[in-house]
Amino acid sequence: MIVVRSRGGGELRVEGYRVRAFERIDLPPVDRRLKAIREAGWNTFQLRADDVFLDMLTDSGVNAMSTSQLAAMMSAQDAYAGSRTFYEFAEAVEEILGFRYVVPVHQGRAAEHLIARVFVREGSIVPMNYHFTTTKAHIDLAGGRVVEIPVREALDIKSRYPFKGDIDVARLEEILRRERDRVAFVRIEAIANLLGGQPVSMKNIREVRELCDRYSVPLVLDGSMVDWNAYFIKEREPGYGSKRLGDILKEFVSYSDIFYMSARKAPAVRGGFIATNSREVYERLVVHVPVYEGFPTYGGMSTKEMAAMAVGLREMVDENLAGSELELIKYVVEELDKRGIPVVLPPGGLGVHIEASSFLPHVPRSAYPAGSLAAALYIASGVRSMERGAMSMDRDRDGREVYPELELVRIAFPRRTYLKSHADYVIDRVLWLYEHRDVVKGAEVGIRTARPKVLPGKARGYRGLGRKTG
Ligand SMILES: Cc1ncc(COP(=O)(O)O)c(C=O)c1O
Repeated sequence: MIVVRSRGGGELRVEGYRVRAFERIDLPPVDRRLKAIREAGWNTFQLRADDVFLDMLTDSGVNAMSTSQLAAMMSAQDAYAGSRTFYEFAEAVEEILGFRYVVPVHQGRAAEHLIARVFVREGSIVPMNYHFTTTKAHIDLAGGRVVEIPVREALDIKSRYPFKGDIDVARLEEILRRERDRVAFVRIEAIANLLGGQPVSMKNIREVRELCDRYSVPLVLDGSMVDWNAYFIKEREPGYGSKRLGDILKEFVSYSDIFYMSARKAPAVRGGFIATNSREVYERLVVHVPVYEGFPTYGGMSTKEMAAMAVGLREMVDENLAGSELELIKYVVEELDKRGIPVVLPPGGLGVHIEASSFLPHVPRSAYPAGSLAAALYIASGVRSMERGAMSMDRDRDGREVYPELELVRIAFPRRTYLKSHADYVIDRVLWLYEHRDVVKGAEVGIRTARPKVLPGKARGYRGLGRKTG
């Protein structure tokens, strides 16, 4: 954003880019929306994109790309091995993130697979600020266990604590003191997705680093949304307001031993990678790439995407480009909060997060309030949001439901994709739904396979919104 002083003395934030290509979208009539969601088993993941007005399911792989990224794709060098494009990408990783070794993979969960395969053993534990679904799945599959130690404020949606993604360092120290030998690594997710897109402070990652040094355990950073994390540090953390985003980001990631990202997010492409300054760690990881991903100079990605990723990494720290979707999220969150809608505060990254159990107090958790609300929001608006609660959480090993602390519906704002009128539309429709919330009934999960030990794979579809909602 370009920040200028306004006539009245306040601050004006203006997008530092303009739109040269656009995609036409359409609002399907309500009858079609009702038919579509019924056919989708009341599950927004199963909707066809053509039946959606504003696709706010995720920011993954759907952010707007720049003219420079598209141009770079045209000149990518397609070679099975040793492509110039790979070396240019590796240079961008070193320049922006400060890591000498890079392992390309096809997307974020592939990075998680390799890291878990190398570091996690039967009985390992992995302390972290909070899990992400695919991270947890890979750690579980490798025989380990996630131990979540967010700060106390993280699970209180009303708390305006500025860095709810922080790790509780006292609890981390206790774990390291008692069980150091079982700790595979400590993991920080910067922008904690399932906590409602909340950032991690520089102070916190520095303290975690000190503990990792003292107990000799690696610190792994999931930086899939690290661009937003740097933006929040600049906005919220004392001492960083006048620093450049690029310097903030580089300092932040410098505290990690192993950095990985889903490049479907911050650099706006379809890919991913792991980066480190340890030759030994690099060698332990890279041997798995030919088996699971592809040759180590493309890692399962198209070289076109890799070329665009190099540009996207540099654009992450371009002050003109950063933050426009965060400003939209802030606007929607504040407007909804003012009108009593239970949203996660303070406004974070990724999207607007509604706490569905409070929005629908008449729907018990066993009837999936977040899944029901996401379906109802689609019917009422054509907006596709994502359930982030019990339905998308894996069951325990005996097939029993696990209820996560937060039962959220996430309305994502992909980077540089939606406009203020879209934000106003979302506000209006959510308020309408709140006023008519009694029409939303609970849901029922139908599982097609009876294999309780299989990890995710539940929630193929669900029924029971009750009646038409708008
Ligand atoms: C924090 C975080 N880590 C990892 C992943 C997995 O990345 P991918 O979807 O590219 O496999 C995601 C995806 O949304 C994520 O948000």
